[in-house]
Amino acid sequence: MVIGIIGGTGKEGKGLAYRWAKAGHQVIIGSRDYEKAQTVVLEMNDSFTGIRPIQGEQNIDAADHAEVVVVTVPFSAHVPTLESIRDSVQNKIVIDVTVPLVPPKVTHVQIPTSGCAAMEAQQVLGEAVRVVSAFQNVSYEKLLKDEDLQCDVLVCGNDKEAKQIVLGLVSDAHLKGYDAGPLQNSIVSEGLTSVLININKHFGIQNAGIKITGIE
Ligand SMILES: NC(=O)c1ccc[n+]([C@@H]2O[C@H](COP(=O)([O-])OP(=O)(O)OC[C@H]3O[C@@H](n4cnc5c(N)ncnc54)[C@H](OP(=O)(O)O)[C@@H]3O)[C@@H](O)[C@H]2O)c1
Repeated sequence: MVIGIIGGTGKEGKGLAYRWAKAGHQVIIGSRDYEKAQTVVLEMNDSFTGIRPIQGEQNIDAADHAEVVVVTVPFSAHVPTLESIRDSVQNKIVIDVTVPLVPPKVTHVQIPTSGCAAMEAQQVLGEAVRVVSAFQNVSYEKLLKDEDLQCDVLVCGNDKEAKQIVLGLVSDAHLKGYDAGPLQNSIVSEGLTSVLININKHFGIQNAGIKITGIE
């Protein structure tokens, strides 16, 4: 699958890029700055063996060339970034990883006026785009390592087929995903991130996660 990661030069984007390139997907890291994207992919392709070479492009070109587009930008950049790729993602799946954190109070759950970041994405991109939310609770550090990551992935969206495709990508990233219901339920996955950051601070750790229990 051709996966474009918007804001893929950042922490979470690089982690997901590594996991999917290792699984053999064609990954395009997007940036506002073409040179920055090139620098990041050069570093990654040099550092990691056994991955399908990652490509780097401007965000809009990454969105144009991808079948599935992943958005990993800070919440402050969410709406303008989505507006900039809106035409390129029509009729595609967009995975929104954005958490509506408002620094410096990142341990406080914040609720955007549209309900949650994923619903905001749906509003900005329009109904022809299949928005799915996922990965908000997965801390980036371990994504860049081949270590078992003790965090499940809640996948929310209104289109069942799109959610199945995203659940496949979760599995390709060596994570366990669950269909967590419609897009509006993303308010919970997004909010959980602030809870996990609070736990991280309390225990002086970096990657508190969530696990779904009770399933045989
Ligand atoms: N870090 C984590 O462990 C983690 C875990 C789960 C979810 N998330 C969520 O994933 C998203 C990305 O997190 P991150 O830690 O990867 O963020 P980040 O490293 O701070 O930023 C990611 C990328 O966003 C782009 N960006 C930054 N400011 C921008 C602006 N004003 N306008 C447009 N693009 C801008 C930058 O790319 P260019 O400069 O190349 O354009 C940057 O490399 C956030 O919403 C975060 O809450 C993060």
